[in-house]
Amino acid sequence: MLNPYLPFPVAIDEIITETEDKNLKSFKFVFLNPEDEEKFSYRAGQFAELSVTGKGEIPIGIASSPTEKGYVMFTVNKVGLVSSCLHSMKAGDIMGIRGPLGNWYPWDVLEGKNVVIIGGGFAFTTLRSSIVYMLDPANRKKFNDIHVIYGARTPGMLLYREELTAWEKRDDIHMHITVDGTDDPDWKYNVGFVPTITEQKAPPGSADTYAIVCGPPIMIKFTQPVLDNLNYSHDHIIMSLEMRMKCGIGICGRCNIGKEYVCKDGPVFTLAQLNEMPREY
Ligand SMILES: Cc1cc2nc3c(=O)[nH]c(=O)nc-3n(C[C@H](O)[C@H](O)[C@H](O)COP(=O)(O)OP(=O)(O)OC[C@H]3O[C@@H](n4cnc5c(N)ncnc54)[C@H](O)[C@@H]3O)c2cc1C
Ligand code: FES
Repeated sequence: MLNPYLPFPVAIDEIITETEDKNLKSFKFVFLNPEDEEKFSYRAGQFAELSVTGKGEIPIGIASSPTEKGYVMFTVNKVGLVSSCLHSMKAGDIMGIRGPLGNWYPWDVLEGKNVVIIGGGFAFTTLRSSIVYMLDPANRKKFNDIHVIYGARTPGMLLYREELTAWEKRDDIHMHITVDGTDDPDWKYNVGFVPTITEQKAPPGSADTYAIVCGPPIMIKFTQPVLDNLNYSHDHIIMSLEMRMKCGIGICGRCNIGKEYVCKDGPVFTLAQLNEMPREY
């Protein structure tokens, strides 16, 4: 049996600076032992603990899609001890990945349905994983309409800009990219906060339409009433929580909300489930 506390050794293969403030970087890792890639078999929506020797571990959503083989990718915001240390590392450096951890977006439920992805800021990471997964030629037919509403403060703060441009050009995904504001005369997408763009662009709620919402608390607070007005039932609104975590496997008790362990029972919950939980998140 695998020891759940033991990270897989990985090497940094590539580092991509995502945002103009350089605080968000994507890290592509390759497994030092090729058979570990098989053991790290994941679904879009899961996370892993990234461990930097001598510094600690941090939970980070998996930004690559299970359909992307040969590497696993994470996008990390530089906020404190471990994330800053990671930002100072370079291609070729060795570290550890423990996981995959937590549950995932309910792909079996979403098959045959319309999927509306609503994201803001750097919480777009597991949403990128989901979009790449759904757009994969082997999967696209499994889903009906796909809408993506994604916002950042400015154009330079958007993640995955080359991919956003490529998705914009496709006719099998409806992209609604937005920024809070910009003085760029060449900006050709939306200007406005995510809840406003959701109100304007999201399809109405129905038995066949699910929304996946990830973003900062303020975005979620103002998006929820918009989805209510659009008649999304709370069991059709799916969210991913970011609680403080330690073990990531439901043992230490650091992340629980009532009887739910966010690391093990989540991080993905429907709004209907969250409504039943104490408001500690
Ligand atoms: C399931 C899950 C998925 C996540 N996915 C991502 C991701 O894809 N990309 C990403 O950049 N970050 C993600 N995070 C947040 C990330 O785990 C924290 O930013 C990280 O642990 C900070 O560690 P640090 O050592 O750099 O900072 P620390 O030195 O521990 O703290 C620095 C600052 O960050 C705050 N902080 C620390 N941990 C958290 C946390 N879990 N939530 C909110 N604030 C925190 C502290 O209060 C402090 O203000 C995720 C968290 C969870 C639980
Ligand atoms: S992080 Fe230890 S129980 Fe969730």
